[in-house]
Amino acid sequence: MNKRAEDDGLVSKTRPLLVRLEALGKSYHEAGQEKCVLDAVDCSIGAGQFICLLGKSGSGKSTLLNLISGIDRPSEGSVFIRENGRDVELTALNEHQRTLFRRRNIGIIFQFFNLIPTLTVLENVALPVELASSDRKGHRRAKNLLDRVGLGDRLDSFPDRLSGGEQQRVAIARALIHDPVLLLADEPTGNLDEGTGGAVLELLLELSRDAGKTLIMATHDEDIAGLADAVYFLERGHLVSHYGLTPNSNRESDVLRTPGREVDTPIAQ
Ligand SMILES: Nc1ncnc2c1ncn2[C@@H]1O[C@H](COP(=O)(O)OP(=O)(O)OP(=O)(O)O)[C@@H](O)[C@H]1O
Ligand SMILES: [Mg+2]
Repeated sequence: MNKRAEDDGLVSKTRPLLVRLEALGKSYHEAGQEKCVLDAVDCSIGAGQFICLLGKSGSGKSTLLNLISGIDRPSEGSVFIRENGRDVELTALNEHQRTLFRRRNIGIIFQFFNLIPTLTVLENVALPVELASSDRKGHRRAKNLLDRVGLGDRLDSFPDRLSGGEQQRVAIARALIHDPVLLLADEPTGNLDEGTGGAVLELLLELSRDAGKTLIMATHDEDIAGLADAVYFLERGHLVSHYGLTPNSNRESDVLRTPGREVDTPIAQ
């Protein structure tokens, strides 16, 4: 797939391609009517990029992230993700295979943290590794990560004893525990006050950048978009590229082009 995308001039030649969406569509049937949420979305995302996904409530941001993670299945089209130098067609895998693929390659951060209330902070973070292998190496790595997110002294606390910002920091550590190449964040600061959200965002960006992760984040916050390498806007089922609007996206070699329309309107909610 690299070859074709590069031939099309869609991808920077200096970065390997990590995610490719091809004619991705999602429709729901409700009350006898078909509702199209995503319509033939094409997009290529390079390794190590921070991608921001904007769009009104109901525009399909969570739907798109759930398709990229393989949690949900598209009505049509494909998701390809590179693993060990090979493009894996996630959408061709069955549910069990997608779960295993996700455990190896993808970390997810949700708006409402999604920690398991009956597990301690340490157990929540170590869980993905322990699900994937039987030894307890996850605990050591979990402790290191919890130190990095500033919660090294809360290992034995339960989630309901933590503030929202602290819970989200646990969720960030959990998303990083299996060293995934791809991080998906669905409004990770949407449930936090501005100050706490800013600190959590800074931490997430720092950790993902330091570890060379690709981060795709859905958000309503235009300030966050200003920090991204590329910004996309979902409207009426289409993914519209907004490169050129953010400071970082001026770096020519980093700009990833999609076949989608370009618009020159300001980013709006
Ligand atoms: N299971 C479902 N059945 C029917 N419609 C659905 C289902 N899941 C999502 N939708 C619809 O798909 C559309 C996109 O939803 P989605 O949650 O992806 O939006 P969003 O951009 O993440 O919104 P928000 O910013 O509020 O989180 C919405 O109109 C929603 O009602
Ligand atoms: Mg959403």
